Amino acid sequence: MAATIPPFPHRHLISVNALSAAEVKEIFARAENHWRRNRETGKRTDALTGRSIVNLFFEPSTRTLLSFELAGKRLGADVATLPLAESSVKKGESFEDTLYTVDAMQPDAIIVRHREIGAARAASELVSASVVNAGDGVAEHPTQALLDAFTLQQKWGSLEGRRILICGDIAHSRVAGSDIPLLTQLGADVRVAGPEVFLPESTAAETFNDFDTALQGCDAVMMLRIQRERMGENQAPHLEDYVRDWRLDAGRLGRAKPDALIMHPGPMNRDVEITSEVADHPRSVIRAQVESGVAVRMAVLELLMEARA
Ligand code: CP
Repeated sequence: MAATIPPFPHRHLISVNALSAAEVKEIFARAENHWRRNRETGKRTDALTGRSIVNLFFEPSTRTLLSFELAGKRLGADVATLPLAESSVKKGESFEDTLYTVDAMQPDAIIVRHREIGAARAASELVSASVVNAGDGVAEHPTQALLDAFTLQQKWGSLEGRRILICGDIAHSRVAGSDIPLLTQLGADVRVAGPEVFLPESTAAETFNDFDTALQGCDAVMMLRIQRERMGENQAPHLEDYVRDWRLDAGRLGRAKPDALIMHPGPMNRDVEITSEVADHPRSVIRAQVESGVAVRMAVLELLMEARA
């Protein structure tokens, strides 16, 4: 594959804010090629043959972990995932010592998910491998934002001028933390909506506390789950009230544009923030987001590894 011009200048991917428009464009161009090949029988390339990638997930994951594994393997890299529940972390080994130990095995990339804000950046300062932030607390999840934007670009061609609503537990969402700046950089008009307790103290997005108003004129609606693991006891609104006021159902969806796309980063809590009818709607791109995740992560790994060459 042709080298990036100018070369990808990043050793790590910690935040979407580090990416220029040209770099995002290059990630998407490569992801498009990977997306196509991923639909063929022969998915594997040798672009990263000889490279080693370690997945270090201190929090549960289905989509991100599995797609990084597949991404690395489809590029020909050796991929290892540390099973945290059976690791020496359970014997009291610190975050730092775990990183030093993994890095001593000479991986080229370490994919880090952790409950603490800044964990991936801290990891990048401890190791010689390239670090990809796979979610740090309530802060960022850069590859999720890239795959969300890539999915929309595939549908629309461009995000310029598109109105995208992110709805639900914005304050505890690292997906929103990366989506808002990235979608805005790509020219979208990003809105957020949720009950007061779930709205962030500050955001670049236009903010609504009424769902029906927020939906008006939207080209896409992304629903987020309530992230109870990241909030204090009794911080969440009463479930019945939440479902009444904030669940996306077919009736509410009708307030958005007639061709509005339905998104969710997953995992979904069906019938809490989204009805099954809407999640499985013909205009739902939720499974397309998952598919994009492998292709986008292949592009990111490839670029980071080329930058180390
Ligand atoms: N969207 C996302 O990060 O999902 P997982 O927690 O399953 O990785």
